[in-house]
Amino acid sequence: MNSTPIQIDSASVPAHIAIIMDGNGRWARSHGMERTAGHVAGVETVRTVITAASQLGVKYLTLYAFSTENWNRPPEEVAALLHLIVVALEKETPDLVRNNVRLNVIGDVARMPAESYDSLQRSLAATSACTGLQVNLALSYSSRWEIVEAARSIAAQVASGQLKPEDVSEATVDSLLTTSGIPDPDLLIRTGGDSRVSNFLLWQIAYSELYFTPVYWPAFSTEDFLEAVADYQRRERRFGLTSDQVSGPNANIS
Ligand code: IPE
Ligand code: IPE
Ligand code: MG
Repeated sequence: MNSTPIQIDSASVPAHIAIIMDGNGRWARSHGMERTAGHVAGVETVRTVITAASQLGVKYLTLYAFSTENWNRPPEEVAALLHLIVVALEKETPDLVRNNVRLNVIGDVARMPAESYDSLQRSLAATSACTGLQVNLALSYSSRWEIVEAARSIAAQVASGQLKPEDVSEATVDSLLTTSGIPDPDLLIRTGGDSRVSNFLLWQIAYSELYFTPVYWPAFSTEDFLEAVADYQRRERRFGLTSDQVSGPNANIS
């Protein structure tokens, strides 16, 4: 084990971290277990990362738990995953409340079975007064789904005369996404070794720093999480400007 402590600058902790929690199935297979055992182990990592993010002072943590495309997996795996989410929510909600963590859900939850939907609503209600870290659980979520929903809403508003086409702006689109009111992710982490975004927050990650790690989600540790944050802190975010503009003596962006 690396014994050098990971240095984190508390002044530039990312306000919003998004994570594509990938590699549960391969982790399980590599340990001679069924894929579902990987999802069970992955719940522990969710706990670990929520705790670490809270302690760091991260404001928003968006976790990709189940994608629109994941509905097309074998029905037994879909059922096991959805049931696991219910079990985890019931078990973890008291700790979320104790740790002042507010739960939010983004995605097409109307597609969820009643058991999952009801359990989600209970957890959302139980944590609604929490003021610490906000965890956005992406469930039945895909970016193209939410962009299509936003486009439909804009089309309907234009058709009814409430909105003029020339008044449609980035802010209009932003306000119609599931992440409305939440700042864009500063850092996007994907575990599991693949370097792709798999239909996650495509609009919102326009200027996010991307971090890919080969570590499978169930094996992703607090140290791995802190290393991703430390890596983020070593980068220079330029937002289309020059390096001198963002960090020179006359830098004028905050
Ligand atoms: C991520 O792990 C969890 C979900 C997508 C629900 P996977 O189940 O995708 O695991 P791999 O990528 O097949 O190893
Ligand atoms: C992305 O992982 C979705 C979640 C982590 C929930 P996938 O395993 O579904 O993505 P692909 O199939 O490798 O792109
Ligand atoms: Mg996967």
